[in-house]
Amino acid sequence: VTHPAPTRDQAHAEFRRAAAGAVDWVAEYLEMVSTRPVAASVAPGEIAARLPAEAPAEAEPIARILDDLTRDLLPGITHWNHPRFFAYVPQSAPPAAIVADLIVSALNVNGLLWETSPTLTELEQAVLAWLGKLLGLPSGWFGQTLESASLATLTALTVARERGRRTGGARRGRVVCSSETHASAHKAARLLDLTLTVVDADEGGRMPPARLERALADDDVCAVVATVGTTSTAAVDPIREIAARCRDRGVWLHVDGAYASAAAICPEHAHVLDGIEAADSFVVNAHKWLGLTAACSCFYTPHRDDLRSTFATAPDYLDKGDDVVDLVDYGPMFSRRLSALKLWFALRAAGVDGLRDAIRTTIELARELGGLIAADPAWELCSQRFGVLCFRLRASDEENLRLLRAVNRDGRIFISGTRVGDRPALRVAIGNRMTTRADVATAWEVLRERARHGVGWPLKAAPT
Ligand SMILES: Cc1ncc(COP(=O)(O)O)c(C=O)c1O
Repeated sequence: VTHPAPTRDQAHAEFRRAAAGAVDWVAEYLEMVSTRPVAASVAPGEIAARLPAEAPAEAEPIARILDDLTRDLLPGITHWNHPRFFAYVPQSAPPAAIVADLIVSALNVNGLLWETSPTLTELEQAVLAWLGKLLGLPSGWFGQTLESASLATLTALTVARERGRRTGGARRGRVVCSSETHASAHKAARLLDLTLTVVDADEGGRMPPARLERALADDDVCAVVATVGTTSTAAVDPIREIAARCRDRGVWLHVDGAYASAAAICPEHAHVLDGIEAADSFVVNAHKWLGLTAACSCFYTPHRDDLRSTFATAPDYLDKGDDVVDLVDYGPMFSRRLSALKLWFALRAAGVDGLRDAIRTTIELARELGGLIAADPAWELCSQRFGVLCFRLRASDEENLRLLRAVNRDGRIFISGTRVGDRPALRVAIGNRMTTRADVATAWEVLRERARHGVGWPLKAAPT
């Protein structure tokens, strides 16, 4: 041994120095991020070229590693935690979330079994019950954290397939979703060797119950995936009507509320989960609109025993307890982070009122921007729900695609695109806690400026 390990005292002293440096780094990052271009502007391979071919043989001081992070890696970061990041699905990391993540790392526990960290299991059950109550889920549903909504959908469909086999034999090998369902349902069906039937969404992006009914006619379906807040336009499927059709045929209904179902914590938006009591499983991503760092998906089901009968295993090395919940038996994961602590922190640091305010602020900012777009004859507002707006310039599809690229190259904002009614649309998703009215005003300014430069001005008047 050429480099003896530091003593425990040296390691503690090193931690204090390193952590102080890291906290300073994070604080400076948060202070300056809004002054940076939102998207990385490096060429493919540019970051890889800055990295040595070999891992360093010698230990390096953390201060030097942080310097290299700033110099070599930060330029390749697209700043999701930037107040003008408006792409995909909003997520943010407010200070309490970052602190919670640090503590989760320091405790570094693994909640395989109740015994491997009783606090993890009991805190997880308690805070998921808090959240379930806020969302208006029926009391008594079993909740657990999973690493992603995609994993929640896979978990739900696995249990649904097992139940389908029990009740209908191998024939029940089909799952139904809509053309607006997140692609994680496609992946899950593929992984589970289920046939996927996609019913066309209606003009508002919702799954039409009548079309679903036709897809269920052959009694070979084991599950339906419905969505509260579709990825493109944040449309809300009619859960109550869908659930009634699933119930009639013994079909498992999984509700993917990854993003927009969080709105249900506000009494005035509770209706987005209308009918949820008749569903068989449900997921909301707390790291999307509830202010946690990624990732913390909250998965609920009234069928706790079905989860257990699907996933429980009995390896020799796991000494399971009696009369306790050993979370390893309730899903596909073995290792489990203390993600519940992040939720506990978030709920306490903002309070329910604070979380509701954050959701209301988002919706208000989106409404204001939607009003500006709708009032401008050069633009067409395609949809506006929660914090998500889809719109297009009244110009050709190619010009809209070019505009999207030009807007993102500008650097002041970062947005994404989608298709609405089979035509390309631009998409702005508001939801970062740091986003202000001024940031949204900048978005509108950039969009109009780039549109003027990109496609010529004045634009043709809107067709009437
Ligand atoms: C409706 C919906 N479901 C699922 C997902 C995937 O979530 P995750 O990345 O947690 O798997 C998304 C992502 O944006 C989504 O919008």
